[in-house]
Amino acid sequence: MTAWKNVTAIYQVYPRSFMDSDGDGVGDLAGITSKLDYLAGLGVGAVWLSPVYASPQADCGYDISDYRQIDPMFGTMRDMELLIERAHELGLKVMMDFVPNHTSDQHEWFQAARSSRDNPYRDYYVWRDPRDGAEPTNWVSLAGGKAWEYDEASGQYYLHSFMAAQPDLNWDNPRVRDEMHNILRFWLDKGVDGFRVDAEWPISKIYKDDPLNPNYAGDSDEYGSYLHIHCKNGPNMLRYMREMSDVVASYQDRFMVFEYYTEPELGDEIAQYKAIFDLNPRVAGPFVFDMFRMEWHAHDRAARMAKLYACLPQDGRPIHALGNHDQSRVATRLGDSRARALALAQLTLPGIPTIYYGEELGMKDYQMPAGDRHDNFLEGGGMGGRDPERTPMRWNNGANAGFTTGKPWLPIGDDVAALNAHAQLDDSDSFLTLYRDLLHLRAQHDVFRNGVYADVDVQNAYVWAYEVTDGSQRMIVAVNFADQSQVVNMPGKGHMLLSSDPTSVVDRYDGWAMLAPYEAAVFRRID
Ligand code: NOJ
Repeated sequence: MTAWKNVTAIYQVYPRSFMDSDGDGVGDLAGITSKLDYLAGLGVGAVWLSPVYASPQADCGYDISDYRQIDPMFGTMRDMELLIERAHELGLKVMMDFVPNHTSDQHEWFQAARSSRDNPYRDYYVWRDPRDGAEPTNWVSLAGGKAWEYDEASGQYYLHSFMAAQPDLNWDNPRVRDEMHNILRFWLDKGVDGFRVDAEWPISKIYKDDPLNPNYAGDSDEYGSYLHIHCKNGPNMLRYMREMSDVVASYQDRFMVFEYYTEPELGDEIAQYKAIFDLNPRVAGPFVFDMFRMEWHAHDRAARMAKLYACLPQDGRPIHALGNHDQSRVATRLGDSRARALALAQLTLPGIPTIYYGEELGMKDYQMPAGDRHDNFLEGGGMGGRDPERTPMRWNNGANAGFTTGKPWLPIGDDVAALNAHAQLDDSDSFLTLYRDLLHLRAQHDVFRNGVYADVDVQNAYVWAYEVTDGSQRMIVAVNFADQSQVVNMPGKGHMLLSSDPTSVVDRYDGWAMLAPYEAAVFRRID
């Protein structure tokens, strides 16, 4: 199978929404397995599954009650084994989501922990006495509301950085760390090729109040009203992350991606990325969420990317993402042309990009009526209201877009006629064709996966341009951030390999090129 360093892209499947094989309206493992050929055909190299473990589903699976079981909603352990087997036959790697910071409150550890103060599992979680009859610190939860829940029976509070149904594990307890490492080993032994590590930033904290955010204009006690300098990113976070990645490193060719959001309030963001790149570069790296958090500004983009690539250690791999199950979809945020341009940039940058299911179709958020929503996170939290980006995958123009024969757990949304995989397959102008062509190019040329990034100054403030090179091949990418055509001074001469604009007629340049509004193009230097 392809080594991780040659994986073209990771494809994120949100299992509830990908493909339903049994008509209950919720996607499942057998459904995913039936669509692995589609993913192999698309040209991705790995599939990441959001959590499929046993869970009461308070947070759609990010509340795990047993890390060694598959939730019956998604199938059985056998279904998971078959999925891994089929994926490997097709040359696809399989990554699981791993949720270290918290379990479900239904997990047997928490059930035991809350049963009494002296239960041996008590210390698996974070318990504190009340402070002046109230919460031990002023921390707020990313799911909305306070981060502490009072437990009447034992007279103490427990910590939950997310929902009350997701109590934080106590990573300062070495037994917890051992348990979690053994769970990683369990899945690695089953043949899983890697993990996406969920929300590891709160696994270490300093138990002191967070200061108020002087720049926040919203309601008090919303997530943004504090500077989160104590409730997360604590002094042992990097050490615990390093230990997790050491487990992965002890197996042959496995990989770990950390969900990590840099925090401007913690100082230099590039230094924050660098600390994670440096942990264990051969086997682990952070998501780079810049592309969905960025200002739409070519110069800023160029400056930030140059710094990011300059900070990489040997073998360091940025994991660029345009979206995920917590973010408004890129085509909704930016519109089709800009989403296509960013896709071209993302898939020509060295590292391992991730594609959120449906991104390859240009899928958009669907604002459904309140009664159809499922997400239990509150808008006042750091990440509320995420159903619009989780609607079912559109396979065809049939009933429920081919996703289910039952009633889909979230509505399908509109525009299905044009926006489905079947309709886009043979359409040369479609998003799907662009993604397939980009992934094909990425597979063909190692320089896009493992090359060196360098800034290119094209003397136009609206254009972000860069070169990726491996010494023998030099590829130039130019992205026009303006809604008007731009003339761009290009280095030497080049052949166009691909444009994000299906109407583009340019096929080469000699010293300069004209880019259409929001066009991104990749060229091979021929001089
Ligand atoms: C980040 C995940 O991406 C999100 O979906 C989840 O709700 C939180 N972590 C809590 O696990």
